[in-house]
Amino acid sequence: MSKILILQGSPRANGNTAWMAEEYKKAAEAAGHEVTLVNVARKKVAGCMACGYCRGKGNGACIQKDDMQELFPLMNEAEVLVLAAPIYYFTLCAQIQAPVQRMYCVNKPAKVKKMALLMSSYSPNVYDGATAEFRDICNYWQVENTGFVSAKNDEQKTEETRQKVIALANAL
Ligand SMILES: Cc1cc2nc3c(=O)[nH]c(=O)nc-3n(C[C@H](O)[C@H](O)[C@H](O)COP(=O)(O)O)c2cc1C
Repeated sequence: MSKILILQGSPRANGNTAWMAEEYKKAAEAAGHEVTLVNVARKKVAGCMACGYCRGKGNGACIQKDDMQELFPLMNEAEVLVLAAPIYYFTLCAQIQAPVQRMYCVNKPAKVKKMALLMSSYSPNVYDGATAEFRDICNYWQVENTGFVSAKNDEQKTEETRQKVIALANAL
């Protein structure tokens, strides 16, 4: 049984990405995992300033004291990291990119072994950039890419999508 952290990046609390994240959580909990779901769109997480403090005097600590201080311990304790994001301009929304990029101070989340991706968009065929980015992050962090589920306009909150999300959670 694993400790799972789901970062949900949509600001729409009852939106499609939030629904997918919740379905993943339910399926993973049913399988006995311990799941924490965080709506990062409600957090104040700035982009990395590339100041280099963490690599020098900071000794791994980030100089920016924003809500990332709350996310660092969660990300470093997680064994499975799930990113859930709407597609904004052909990539993962900024709300999800910010916490991933802020891991620069420790290079990678300490205990993560597996990752999964949930995406929602209006149009079909807008996932190539995001899935390539996700694949590259998994490779860089040397974690298993357990796959992704996407839901375009007519696939949102459907039974078919629910089953895909459940299958993804069961692939852990
Ligand atoms: C700023 C912004 C940019 C968007 N860019 C795209 C896009 O490039 N391609 C697309 O298919 N949908 C785009 N959308 C639509 C959302 O991806 C889509 O409505 C998604 O289902 C929203 O997820 P949510 O319900 O979880 O918020 C965009 C929406 C916003 C607000």
